Amino acid sequence: MARDFDGILAVYAANRWSHAREPERLRIAVERADLALVAVQDGEVVGFVRTMSDGAFAVYIADILVMPDVQRQGIGSQLLQAVLDHYPMKTFHHQVLIAERDADGFYRRMGLSAVGAFGLTAFIRTRDKR
Ligand SMILES: CC(C)(COP(=O)(O)OP(=O)(O)OC[C@H]1O[C@@H](n2cnc3c(N)ncnc32)[C@H](O)[C@@H]1OP(=O)(O)O)[C@@H](O)C(=O)NCCC(=O)NCCS
Repeated sequence: MARDFDGILAVYAANRWSHAREPERLRIAVERADLALVAVQDGEVVGFVRTMSDGAFAVYIADILVMPDVQRQGIGSQLLQAVLDHYPMKTFHHQVLIAERDADGFYRRMGLSAVGAFGLTAFIRTRDKR
């Protein structure tokens, strides 16, 4: 994953995510991920996903993003499906992520539901939006 870091950084930058302005902190986040996967096309990183997990019950999908010029070509679905397969529901009954409203349709299509569907709510303390 270390050798892919520049490509991963480029994907964050291309999507204008603030992480790209703090590359050394992003490097730590990538290194400490429980699972970090890249999608590569013609030798270039075009997509990335990373997770945090206790390795037993819960996983948090921290970021998933695809290069803008190759979005809507199935890359994000493949990345997310690989994550979902890695953490089987049988044991990992908490599979959580915070979604941008824009990406709602993507997650719903991948079989995820908004927390309200289970009579649950979610709480967050956050500094700002990206
Ligand atoms: C969201 C994202 C990761 C999806 O990856 P992708 O490779 O573009 O998605 P896919 O091509 O695999 O999409 C599969 C399906 O999900 C749905 N979908 C994908 N992106 C969507 C969006 N932005 N809004 C609504 N539905 C979307 C569509 O139904 C799509 O199928 P279709 O193209 O046949 O209609 C990608 O668009 C991205 O990086 N967006 C910017 C960063 C971002 O918002 N990340 C998520 C933060 S919560």
